[in-house]
Formats: sequence, structure tokens, C-alpha cells
Amino acid sequence: MVDLFRKCEGFFSDPEFALKLGYPISPRVAKEQGIYPFFIPLDQTEGTEVTVGGKRLIMIGSNNYLGLTTHPKVREAAINAIKEFGTSCTGSRFLNGTLAMHAQLEEELADYIGMEKALVFSTGYQTNLGTISALLDRSDIVVCDKEDHASIYDGCHLSLGKMKRYAHNDMADLERVLASNPESAGTLVVVDGVFSMGGDIVPLPEVVALCKKYGARLMVDDAHGLGTVGGGRGTAAHFGLTKSVDLVMGTFSKSFASIGGVIAGAESTMLWIQHRARSLIFSASLPPPNVATVLAALDVMRREPERVDRVNAIGDKMRKGYRAIGLNVGNSQTPIVPIFIGDQMKAMHAWKALFEAGIYANVALPPAVPEGMAILRTSYMATHTDAQMDRVLETMAAVVKEAHILD
Ligand SMILES: Cc1ncc(COP(=O)(O)O)c(C=O)c1O
Repeated sequence: MVDLFRKCEGFFSDPEFALKLGYPISPRVAKEQGIYPFFIPLDQTEGTEVTVGGKRLIMIGSNNYLGLTTHPKVREAAINAIKEFGTSCTGSRFLNGTLAMHAQLEEELADYIGMEKALVFSTGYQTNLGTISALLDRSDIVVCDKEDHASIYDGCHLSLGKMKRYAHNDMADLERVLASNPESAGTLVVVDGVFSMGGDIVPLPEVVALCKKYGARLMVDDAHGLGTVGGGRGTAAHFGLTKSVDLVMGTFSKSFASIGGVIAGAESTMLWIQHRARSLIFSASLPPPNVATVLAALDVMRREPERVDRVNAIGDKMRKGYRAIGLNVGNSQTPIVPIFIGDQMKAMHAWKALFEAGIYANVALPPAVPEGMAILRTSYMATHTDAQMDRVLETMAAVVKEAHILD
């Protein structure tokens, strides 16, 4: 019998093995060269600044768009929830794991997003897994944008339905796919509202029109749209199309400064998902401090909508600044501003140069981005200062030269 773990040994000790798997460099070799950009332990984080090995860095790699992880009211809510309810529900929503505060959060989120009902899961990933797999039967079809998030794809794989894909934001290709579906198949189109890597917004009016034309249901994953577009209420609100979308999905791990996920839609759909989504039923519920954090964050979002304007103004400033130094930021329209770098090794060297100069950005390689591509993913917070942003732009200009990004 072959040893099941031989691939792990190969991946660990043979640099060529990783290359054959499509990695630009073996993770071990990258670590030895100091250009491994993943799993970096942060000693401290205060939102816009973090400390790594005693070094202070400006954080431009977080999804804390509204800067709420350190908001005094949000912190206090989490601490008080632990004092009152303890640290965990130690059970599923289905059984002992639904607190009154879960129900309150669902009501408030349904109202905020503009849907009849909402259902809270323990992570955004589980929300997509559970929702998509609960809705699709063997004869159904799910249609995804090629740049949809991995959790959407995993939900499709877990479902009994057939998955089809269309080219990113290409409405002619979406129509081609929809037109090819048999009339007997139920169809769900799933799109990211704001694409997590490109920072671009889905052309929702066109997607809605095509779904209507072909009788498909529409789900928008608004992990990055809630808190950043539509005054904070997301992509459907941004386009004034809340009533034309069947399902809005969100995560609490970004603007809501917590962890967890939500799906919102019609009451009958929520009742179905509640009783059919295995990632909801067979997994423990969101712990009290995390629920309390989202409730408090939502309160701040309603009271301080200027945070949404601020983070978007920073996104605009950074896009303009990066373009001025010759960088390609693609079609970004939000506080996610990617810097496209064709060469994956160059992206890793640029990451290291930024890190050494006191800036923490993210590198995204396949499968997070399409094959053969690499990006430096930068993302901003309402709490970043103008001085911090000016320093990032100055540093980036120097790094562009040092890492030969434009050569
Ligand atoms: C578009 C999108 N959907 C879903 C998720 C999963 O959410 P979570 O990390 O909260 O589980 C993410 C997280 O990165 C995401 O970017």
C-alpha cells in the first residue's frame, strides 16, 4: 500500500514538488529566503498599526473596513457579553445554541439589509456552504462568476446541483450560460457584490435583468459590500435593487469586526435553510461575545455613516496615488485596492520590501486569484489617518523601484 502522507513529505522537503503543484516557490524555500508572506504572527494589533517581532507596521491588509475592532463601545459589548453569558453556547443553533441575542441580531440585520428575515451562521464560509448546498437539488444548476469567493465554489461542490461558470463580470457570457440551461432546471446565480480581490462591484442591474429574463434566482455575497457600499447597507442598496435580489449573504469578519455570517431573504427561504443547511445544524453557534460585537458594530454603523464615506475617500486617494506612480489597480471601486503584478516572485519580493519599510500588505496568489497572476492586495480602514496613507504612498513609490515592479 502507498503511504498516504508521502505527498506531505514531498511538499516539505522537495522544492521541485511544490513547483509541480503550481506554487511559484516551495514554502520552505520562501521561508529561508525571508519572502514567505503568509501566517505571519502579529504580536499586537491596534487596528491601523500592528507589531511583528517588535517592529511597528501600518496595516493595509485587513478587512476591518470601518475600523470597529477597537471601537470602545464594540469592545465593551464583547466583554459584557462574556460576563453575562460566558464564552460559548457549546451547541448548535438548532438545539441549545440560540440565545435571545442571536434572534435580536437576525431581526436587526434583516432590517438593515432590507430583507424579510435573516439567519446567522458561525462563519461566512459556513453560510455559503450551508445556503447553496441546502437550495440545490440534483436537477438544479448554480451559475457563478469566475472570480466568486472560494466558499461559494465549495458550497457548489457540496451541493447536488451542477455548477457552471461565466467570465468575470461578463454579461454576454452570463447570458450564454443561462440560455443553455434546460427549462426543467431550477437556477441560482451567485455573485460577489464587491469582489474580494479586485475590489470591483458586480454590474447588478444587468445581472438582475438576466435573472428575470431566464427565471433564475439571485444570491449576492456581500462579505465586502456590507459596510463599504450603499451607505453601508451593501451592493443591492448601492444600486437601489434590494427588492430584486433573492438572497444577500454577509460576513461579520470584515466591517462587523467579529466572526460569523448571515443569509437574508424571504421568510419561507430562511425557514428552509434553517432546517436544511448542515453547516448550521451540525456546528456550534456563534459565541456570545461575537454576537454582541456585531450588534454593537451595527449600532455604530447606523449612528456613524460618515465612516463609510471616509473609507471610500481613502480608497479613492490610494487608487489615484498608485495610478500616479504607474501601478495597475484594475477596476477597483471600493476600499479594496489591488496592485496587479504579473510575476509572482516579484510580488513576493515587493511584499518583503514593503514589510521591511514598515507596511503590512497582503500577497494573493492562485487559487485566490486566477492562474498566472499575483496581486498585492491592499485594503483600507475608516480609521487610517491621512499621514499614514501618505507614508504608504511614499513607501510604495520607493518599493516599485526597488522590486522592479514596473520593469
Ligand atoms: C466574498 C467572501 N465570501 C465569504 C467569505 C468567508 O467569510 P469568513 O471569512 O467570514 O468565513 C469571505 C472571506 O474572506 C469572502 O471574502
